[in-house]
Amino acid sequence: MPARTPLSSGRTRLAPPWGKRWPGPDQVVDANFSPPARTLAPLATLEGRNVSAWFGDRQVLDRVNLTMPAGIITALIGPSGCGKSTFLRILNRMHELVPSASLAGEVLLDGEDIYDPERKLVDARKHIGMVFQKPNPFPAMSIYDNVVAGLTLTGRRASNDEKDLLVESCLTKAGLWKEVQDRLRAPGGGLSGGQQQRLCIARSLAVTPRILLMDEPCSALDPTSTRVIEETMLELAHEVTIVIVTHNMQQAQRVSQNCAFFLAAQGTPGGIVEHGPTDAMFGNPIDSRTADYVNGRFG
Ligand SMILES: Nc1ncnc2c1ncn2[C@@H]1O[C@H](COP(=O)(O)OP(=O)(O)O)[C@@H](O)[C@H]1O
Ligand SMILES: [Mg+2]
Repeated sequence: MPARTPLSSGRTRLAPPWGKRWPGPDQVVDANFSPPARTLAPLATLEGRNVSAWFGDRQVLDRVNLTMPAGIITALIGPSGCGKSTFLRILNRMHELVPSASLAGEVLLDGEDIYDPERKLVDARKHIGMVFQKPNPFPAMSIYDNVVAGLTLTGRRASNDEKDLLVESCLTKAGLWKEVQDRLRAPGGGLSGGQQQRLCIARSLAVTPRILLMDEPCSALDPTSTRVIEETMLELAHEVTIVIVTHNMQQAQRVSQNCAFFLAAQGTPGGIVEHGPTDAMFGNPIDSRTADYVNGRFG
């Protein structure tokens, strides 16, 4: 059972110069990349070590340490503005897309730092997929093409037969196949919000990610769609490690085995107050701030 770590208080702050900066935008898709055989990738562990983040001079995360174990759904909870989305974006190298942004620390995918200068940006994106709060399929593109879009973006080629198989398998895993199998050529934008979100999950799965990051994936959805997405997550956890940000405490309890509580005290960067098994975090939290948050006393 993972240990729970209360936040060490009285941290000193370190300024960006010791922080790691990433390689420049010259790292683009490798056009010569050839697709690996489509075997199920083994489950992977993701670990953030001493992750700090800044927008300009403003530090928004301070040395966050969190292991997101293979095959476990980890929920990130905490009030708005405490850095959950920033942490999630650092986990797949999206934070660096913001011009003023910088970061420090390491993100290890099965022990290998995704920010290692030897590594390509596209590798991180391929292995670590992301689903956002607002479903963002390509609206004019067909359902079918939405699913295979990820392949193109990561420079992977596939035959038409392979694509057909991939589309069916990803839509099935995302819990959408039965609803759309007879209209695969219809535009993705014509689906309901919940269906669009599952289409985005299917699109993420098309590149066989080892980690799936989900940033409040149900907050724009009705309760029925939310329940379908939660069931989909529980099914997917057998083949991909999932990290979800959620403001819904019931959802965190329903889907996650591990939980991390983020908090940013007034005027200070965000950090993890406490993390550990979800049952313990909700049933027997160590820190009184965790107890207050999970019981709805603030946030
Ligand atoms: N693109 C950005 N530019 C400047 N500040 C940002 C940007 N994105 C987020 N922030 C700030 O970083 C802090 C953490 O934000 P965020 O990670 O979105 O928190 P959460 O997801 O927990 O609500 C907030 O104070 C927010 O205002
Ligand atoms: Mg957020």
